[in-house]
Amino acid sequence: MSRVLMVSSEAAPFAKTGGLADVLGALPPELNTLGDECAVVLPRYGAIDVSSAEKVYSGLRVYLGGGHYECDIYKKVYRGTPFFFVDHPGLYGRDGFYGDLYGDFGDNHIRFALLCSAALGVARYLFPTQIFHCHDWQAGLLPLFLKNFVTGDPAFYNAKTVFTIHNLGYQGLMPRARLWEAGIEDRFFRPDLLEFNGVASLLKSGIVFADALTTVSARYAEEIQTPEFGFGMDGLLRSRRGVLRGLLNGCDYEEWSPEADPYLVANYSAEDMSGKAVCKQALLDEFGIGKRMSRPLIGIVSRLAYQKGFDLVGTVLDEMLGWRDVTLVVLGSGEKKTEDLFAGFAAKYPDRMIFWHGFNNAMAHRIEAGADLFLMPSRYEPCGLNQMYSLRYGTLPVVRATGGLDDTIDAETGFKFWRFESWDLAECLRQALKVYADQPRFQAMQKTAMGRDHSWAQTAGKYSALYKELLDR
Ligand code: ADP
Ligand code: GLC
Repeated sequence: MSRVLMVSSEAAPFAKTGGLADVLGALPPELNTLGDECAVVLPRYGAIDVSSAEKVYSGLRVYLGGGHYECDIYKKVYRGTPFFFVDHPGLYGRDGFYGDLYGDFGDNHIRFALLCSAALGVARYLFPTQIFHCHDWQAGLLPLFLKNFVTGDPAFYNAKTVFTIHNLGYQGLMPRARLWEAGIEDRFFRPDLLEFNGVASLLKSGIVFADALTTVSARYAEEIQTPEFGFGMDGLLRSRRGVLRGLLNGCDYEEWSPEADPYLVANYSAEDMSGKAVCKQALLDEFGIGKRMSRPLIGIVSRLAYQKGFDLVGTVLDEMLGWRDVTLVVLGSGEKKTEDLFAGFAAKYPDRMIFWHGFNNAMAHRIEAGADLFLMPSRYEPCGLNQMYSLRYGTLPVVRATGGLDDTIDAETGFKFWRFESWDLAECLRQALKVYADQPRFQAMQKTAMGRDHSWAQTAGKYSALYKELLDR
């Protein structure tokens, strides 16, 4: 049994922009079920209501650079797991987690250095910790702080760090001149430490200083060691290969199961699929498109980021919506270019396509249930959760074979293409439509997909074993 404190900038259901939050909402409770003791620290953003939370520490002093910050710590127990919220209204109280209309917040290095340092405070006063499990660049400074600034403090005797890379594309970059504001001395600005192409990278801090590294699928663990997927850090990652492993994310079936999903007009299961047709009809009615039930309905739910590869979809939509008998529903927001692309096609094919701009969890569930196919043409995908939700909902994924998409989808459960090329995507979609037209075959695939087990228990067991290995060293 290990005492584990996870440090993250997101955790469902409190703060979510993507899959990181889903992982933090599901893995810690699963670890607690398995017998570890796990808690989570995250910022108390303005949108997080702490009126029903317990204030467990007042005036925690965190020294960074020249000044200090005073935070209060709130605690809520969710699914048997303590979540500690670091409250500093000046730094976290604003709208947005990482930025606003004008881009990333200019003080993110301070905001997330504070998170890391406050997490050490939580460990010292509230939750004695053996393993600090840090997620993505926002938690990347914690291993540096632990190894360099609090050595000799008995509170952290033999404490170990695990750093999980959910996405190498977000590197937490900041100018050298501002390092001191995050509490980091200039001596850390070295090519083998934080320096990265002339600036400092908080992601690199995690990679360099953590005792163990993980990423969220076996395939992505290999990919990030290559120049194609390494974002300039492949050499460093190759040098850290000995401590890096790929542990595939799980799927939170308490949240994502068509048998019990409260957001659906009808529930269903692999044994009785009748509810899925009801969900499809309801989705078509909701959007007032393509009344024909027999027409294949493709769903997309995503952050609209370059990573997700939707520019490629733009090159095949005229064929899909113009010549072939397909309906498309897209839910997402993000880069303006992609939003404009989808808005343009929705205007061009109003009876075939809907683009819903925004973030809407209930609608994400309705699309997972109502669609026949789910499209994820990612350039790269560390793990990807939606394809696993899709499997469970009998909504066959059409994916590019990269990262976790490659690890979770096979010819019995979905459709894959390899090269990031229009022709390959178009051909893959044609193949999916061909199988859809052969309903007995399609239904057999749905059944197989729904039977695949991606529950968290197995992966949580692997994390648990990793913690134990580190502590036994
Ligand atoms: P990523 O973390 O790269 O965004 P994942 O597939 O791991 O990709 O996880 C995305 C998560 O965010 C899923 O739970 C998905 O349903 C959710 N999501 C993404 N965009 C939206 C949206 N516009 N509305 C509701 N949920 C969304
Ligand atoms: C990142 C990745 C995604 C992964 C998620 C959770 O946001 O883009 O592929 O599923 O983290 O690990």
